[in-house]
Amino acid sequence: MKKSLILLAACLIGGAAFAQQTNPLLQHETEITEIIKTMTLEEKVNMLHGKNMFSSAGIERLGIADMEYADGPFGIREEMEPHSWMPLGWETDRATFFPTGSALAATWSPEIAYEYGKGMAIEAKLRGKDMILGPAMNIQRLPTGGRTYEYLSEDPILSGELAVGYTLGSQDQNEAVCLKHFAVNSQENMRGFVNVNISERALREIYLTPFEMAVKKANAMGVMAAYNKVWGTWCSENFTLQETILRNEWGFKGMIISDWGGTHSTVGAVTGGLEVEMPGNTYMGQALIDSVKTGAVPMNVIDARVRNILRVRLAITPVPKDVANTKVTSQPETQAIAYKVASKSIVLLKNEGVLPLASKAKTIAVIGDNATRTMGLGGVGAGVKTLYEVTPLEGLQKALKGKAKIRYARGYEPAPRAGWGQQLPENAMEEYAKRMATLKKEALKAVKGADLVIFVGGNNREVETEGSDRTSIQLPFQQEELMKAIAEVNPNIVAVMVAGAPVDLREVNKIAKGLVYSWFNGTEGGNALADVLTGKIAPSGKLPFTLPVKLDDSPAYALGVYPQQEQGGGDVFVNLVNRDRFAVRKADADYSEGIFVGYRWYTTKNVKPMYPFGYGLSYVDFKYTNLAAKVEGETIEVTFDLANQGQMEADEVTQVYIARPDSKVERPKYELKGFKRVAVKGGETTKVTISIPKDNLRHWNEFQHAWNVENGKAVIYVGGSSDNLPLQTEITL
Ligand code: BGC
Repeated sequence: MKKSLILLAACLIGGAAFAQQTNPLLQHETEITEIIKTMTLEEKVNMLHGKNMFSSAGIERLGIADMEYADGPFGIREEMEPHSWMPLGWETDRATFFPTGSALAATWSPEIAYEYGKGMAIEAKLRGKDMILGPAMNIQRLPTGGRTYEYLSEDPILSGELAVGYTLGSQDQNEAVCLKHFAVNSQENMRGFVNVNISERALREIYLTPFEMAVKKANAMGVMAAYNKVWGTWCSENFTLQETILRNEWGFKGMIISDWGGTHSTVGAVTGGLEVEMPGNTYMGQALIDSVKTGAVPMNVIDARVRNILRVRLAITPVPKDVANTKVTSQPETQAIAYKVASKSIVLLKNEGVLPLASKAKTIAVIGDNATRTMGLGGVGAGVKTLYEVTPLEGLQKALKGKAKIRYARGYEPAPRAGWGQQLPENAMEEYAKRMATLKKEALKAVKGADLVIFVGGNNREVETEGSDRTSIQLPFQQEELMKAIAEVNPNIVAVMVAGAPVDLREVNKIAKGLVYSWFNGTEGGNALADVLTGKIAPSGKLPFTLPVKLDDSPAYALGVYPQQEQGGGDVFVNLVNRDRFAVRKADADYSEGIFVGYRWYTTKNVKPMYPFGYGLSYVDFKYTNLAAKVEGETIEVTFDLANQGQMEADEVTQVYIARPDSKVERPKYELKGFKRVAVKGGETTKVTISIPKDNLRHWNEFQHAWNVENGKAVIYVGGSSDNLPLQTEITL
């Protein structure tokens, strides 16, 4: 086992929340000092900005290779022309599409995240890349957030543990990661100019903690500065975030790169902590040379920036140009990882005796556009040109071959959308309505007389997209109407929601007898879905976010602080592509809910969600008994018995929430402090131990500007979801 995998296990089992391993970035300090001594100002500055769209320069004279970056986070992005977004159209760059962020998070498994990071790294190496632009790990603050599907969770500990796994998995393969987007890039609307007003406590406890964990526990080598501002200052020049917190407090030794088009000044950026302006050189090219020459930027600042890049450059062995891209990116080994993640991510929300599929179901109607839609590409940003992608329909056809007859009807299709700067033809919507009527008719015919209907709907990669948030969480393209009509003909419905973010399930939940969340689940998504639906494996994913009853229940909406009023402009990335990057204006986002993000809000304010954070059913029942908890040194040891009362082997994600009833500060009802995925054979009982570093109970003291762990009573709740915690005990700290 690799050293850091052992460390990961040790962190999880033995506590040590912020234990540090030897930092590989500090192994070449003397050599770097010597290199810097020989460099000219021009050579140094040449390293501090993009060379191509996805690379920055090394030092040719010294044989030090360029840094090659790869989007990330859920597959290695296809190759593009050096200075444009135009794909090169290669065949070797077909990559594995890994399940997107919220799917990975639904596994609740740092060990699976480790494999995920490893798989990404293996493919990045085949492509000659040094740094993966991922994991994307901003907190899922808004159910409508455009990149919720890319991000991990609404909870900092869950996000952090998974980011640690991903980072260790990748960096053990000698592939750097780039944690993104630092920090508080939790909305897409106006992301290029929004200023986040947030309390110090919420910033620290909720939004920064996952980054802190990945830096301290996994020595992440790269960080990407977010587009937005925090406390009035652009992230890419935010001295407080980048220098005071990231480097000085957390001990980050790697390099910070800007998001694409997210640099806004020369002196501000370079003195504020930024190493590399991406992708161009507007601010950190000639302007930076001039600033050094006039004395506005001291040479030691430049040297520090170069050192941070060289630390990463020398820690990561470059792939020779003639070796890279000689093999297809996606490989059986990495495809197997994608399957594993997908198969453990699927969340069963409701099951009135319809799942697993009964063998007597001989005719199955599969309905829905998402049954045949691939999800690797789409939206504005990172997509994956996959080698292959098994759709839900293909997965079911393969799994049910010779066992049941499948009738497929599309039922609905996505509404037509105008391309950038274009308008829809005049009669486009009328034509769409006609097509939709025909599709509905065909679907109603297909479901008639079928033993079961599997409705595969949800969102797609155009609905959930980088660059803009959704305006609602309503299921698009009249899916509810279609489902209602289907139910009148055949009420035996299993609904599969293919989505990366919350959708409004009020109607679906009424109509469907079985309900499954199956995510944008990657190359092997259809196979994993079929294996869960047919009962080859038990579902074991748990929600990494709260599914609200309605959008207005969620904190920022309930408080009326989102959406903010936009004052002109468009999306920063779209403007960058259109070479109109200044067409943006100022706006403020008030994070008025403070630390009450996600389930912290619902549980504390007694707002009942549709399905709570941490929720997910299995095909077996689990029984929790015999809880004990004790403090041992710096760790809280929680043990309990977990019995699988069913017939088949199944995984359960066990969760520990802790309340501090005598706290002197305002707190949520309880908070997730530890968790563990456990496999238990049918009929067996296993003892589970979850070690929680005392430090996980810290809170940010806004008066002292420091972390405190309060003494006193801690109530420990254990169970299988944030609203189903059958065991309870108390300890005193
Ligand atoms: C995204 C980043 C991405 C970069 C390069 C930006 O628009 O915010 O996450 O890595 O583009 O594609």
